[in-house]
Amino acid sequence: MAMIGLSEGSLAPEWASRYPAHARGAIRLYGEEFHRDPAAVYWRLRTVHGPVAPVLVDGDVPAWLVLDYREFGQVLASPAYYTRDSNAWNSWDLIPADWPLIPMITARDTAWFLTGDEHDRRVAVLADGLGTVDPFELRTACERVADDLIDGFAGHGRADLISQYAELLPLRVATALLGLPPADSTAIVADLAIVVNGGPDAVTANIRLRDRLQAQVTARREHQRFDVLSRLVTHPAGLRDGELLEELQTIFAIVHQATSAWIGNTLRLMLGDPRFAATILGGRRSVGDAMAEVLWEDPPGATLTGRWTVGPRTLGRYRLGAGDLLLLSITAANTDPTIRTTAEVHHRNQAHMAYGHGEHRCPLAGQEIGEAIAQAAVQILLDRLPDIELATPIDRLAWRPSLWLRSLVDLPVVFTP
Ligand code: HEM
Repeated sequence: MAMIGLSEGSLAPEWASRYPAHARGAIRLYGEEFHRDPAAVYWRLRTVHGPVAPVLVDGDVPAWLVLDYREFGQVLASPAYYTRDSNAWNSWDLIPADWPLIPMITARDTAWFLTGDEHDRRVAVLADGLGTVDPFELRTACERVADDLIDGFAGHGRADLISQYAELLPLRVATALLGLPPADSTAIVADLAIVVNGGPDAVTANIRLRDRLQAQVTARREHQRFDVLSRLVTHPAGLRDGELLEELQTIFAIVHQATSAWIGNTLRLMLGDPRFAATILGGRRSVGDAMAEVLWEDPPGATLTGRWTVGPRTLGRYRLGAGDLLLLSITAANTDPTIRTTAEVHHRNQAHMAYGHGEHRCPLAGQEIGEAIAQAAVQILLDRLPDIELATPIDRLAWRPSLWLRSLVDLPVVFTP
């Protein structure tokens, strides 16, 4: 089924025989045409295919994209039919060893990928550990880190709020909360940035990172302290060192990517949208309003990777085979016209899917910490630099070409030094 103007992949014969629906002109969720306007692509996919569409991801690998709010919830609330376990995929034999999505999809030993009792055991440790974060301590850590970062550029009269602020602040706060010494925190934040960006140094940086975390975990096993890491180490569920390191690395990645994007997307709105820009001088919309709107319109996690059909199933207008790969579009579910019946959505309504849904939904403690960090980061910046303005018009700011994360390339601003 041709979709004029969108890039259709050409399915290799070995794929085409297994995925006949994809062989009839499935479109690519990668490349320039898709990234120019993902929302328009989702709209057209929904019009042509309904709630679930055959699509191609990197390397023209077939997947099903869940677009509608109802089906999004249905898939994530039914782990018995749609598993998180990527070992269920029917296509591993066709995937080349250098396929770029392997690191995202391959199951690792963390709550993010686990299922059943083991998943529940891990989440209990994380929820208990994160749940003990003191809100005042959190706010103080945010203020300290925010002030330090702003001091670094306040005298210059211009800055890029992504690379100089939004991308640095959440991890620095998180390492401080965990109880890591400042020197270690700086090194861990630097190494994580190298790991996240990939590239030739990523493997060595990852080894250094794990060695540092291991040393901290060992120290807490010998002498407990009043910090979050000690509470994770001494939790009655008894996570082993390897399990703890995997969980810590996953948390760092989420805090870094999701919270940084939330800060950046909120600042974009506060500074670039006239409905918000007025507030800095006492208008009617607040930082909380902007943050809530971002969760609906530009959610940090744009697409969830990986659920796999446990057996053949009908979803939307299609019959899916056993072990097919599903991707879930948070952006599309949030903008599904059947739940957006009025022109203006009440963004304070929390029925969005920005935190996922079902058993893998972001734990409440994670949501609260992410929100507190983002709120403090935006508020403190606007308080410290009251005449701050975008140096580039909002419609010329570039989004990163990522299916998974909704985040800006940069956010240049000017202000009185
Ligand atoms: C900053 C503190 C945060 C922490 C510690 C945290 C932690 C976690 C953890 C441990 C999970 C995995 C849960 C599981 O698999 O059972 C998770 C899932 C998730 N988190 Fe968070 N999170 C944080 C902030 C955020 C933010 C700010 C967002 C976006 C607004 C977000 C969006 C999500 C989503 C969408 C999932 C579901 C993933 C899926 O189902 O595939 N998180 N989070």
